Amino acid sequence: MLRTRFTDLLGLSLPVMNAPMSNHSGGRLAAAVSEAGGLGTFGASNGLGADWLREQIAYVRGVTDRPFGVGFITQLIEPDPENFEIVLDNGVSVVIFSFTDPQPWLGRARDAGAITVCQVQSLELAQMAADGGADVLMVQGNEAGGHTGGMNLLPLLVAVVEKYPQLPVLAAGGITTGRALAAVLAAGADGASLGTALLATPEAVEVPDAFKERVVLSDGQDTAFTRLYDLLGDTPWPNGIAGRVYRNRLVREWDGRDDAIAERREELASDVAAARARHDPEVASVYMGQGAGAVNAIRPAAEVIDGICCEAENLLSNLKV
Ligand SMILES: Cc1cc2nc3c(=O)[nH]c(=O)nc-3n(C[C@H](O)[C@H](O)[C@H](O)COP(=O)(O)O)c2cc1C
Repeated sequence: MLRTRFTDLLGLSLPVMNAPMSNHSGGRLAAAVSEAGGLGTFGASNGLGADWLREQIAYVRGVTDRPFGVGFITQLIEPDPENFEIVLDNGVSVVIFSFTDPQPWLGRARDAGAITVCQVQSLELAQMAADGGADVLMVQGNEAGGHTGGMNLLPLLVAVVEKYPQLPVLAAGGITTGRALAAVLAAGADGASLGTALLATPEAVEVPDAFKERVVLSDGQDTAFTRLYDLLGDTPWPNGIAGRVYRNRLVREWDGRDDAIAERREELASDVAAARARHDPEVASVYMGQGAGAVNAIRPAAEVIDGICCEAENLLSNLKV
């Protein structure tokens, strides 16, 4: 068994969590991951409303007694704090923050009894999270699917592990194999957060089949780190943060042409909304990371995390260097 400060903190049997992916995860994925011995989570910054959130929490609790978490895109809490309040009122064990200064919210979450995990993309954000009393730092590298920063995982992970030896640290970005998990554990991480690896699972019911298929077909070289979809949307993202997506036809045509995008914004945004509705991966945003190259089939979440953790454990115990 791979035992770390993270598994001890939450009583887990596997040193992994699934990433809280807003609009791409819910109670089903969280329940499957928690029941399999990892930390199951889902994202709640999605505009799906209070009833949806309450249903997901109830679903997880109906399946498992194990801890689970709910994640927030931090800058979206203030404009619409209802979901944050629901999570605290319901005594969810872990609350996850990402992308901007979590300090205004950390105290509330801790006072409600939650363990706090802060996903950071820079040393500055890591410092804010540590100053605010985060229980766990999660370092996100540029390899990651979804929104992320510009730093690659290993340099940022090593810097954070060395700077905050008192805090458990998780790695996020490109962990889709036991080899990658073994590498970050060897570098000092206490575990990893998996997003892309768990998109292609039956439990990710929020992800259209055509998007799962793109992840399965990917060799890992067909992603882009782009602001295209952010320029067409309403979410405020901090400087340096952009989205890693499948480099589809729309991205190949428009990535980097910010002025031209601004001129055609309305038309492009409506094309993207229509593509999303018909699940067209060549125009809609398909968030996935470079680790997609190692995701070769749609498999149950428990099988995915168990396979990754077993492979990492074997590699680490047989390491001869
Ligand atoms: C489809 C998708 C949606 C995501 N949505 C969120 C989100 O809402 N909030 C967040 O903090 N991170 C989000 N992420 C990033 C993850 O938290 C995590 O850092 C990333 O998935 C790890 O890299 P990997 O995809 O290579 O495993 C998302 C990732 C993906 C793939």
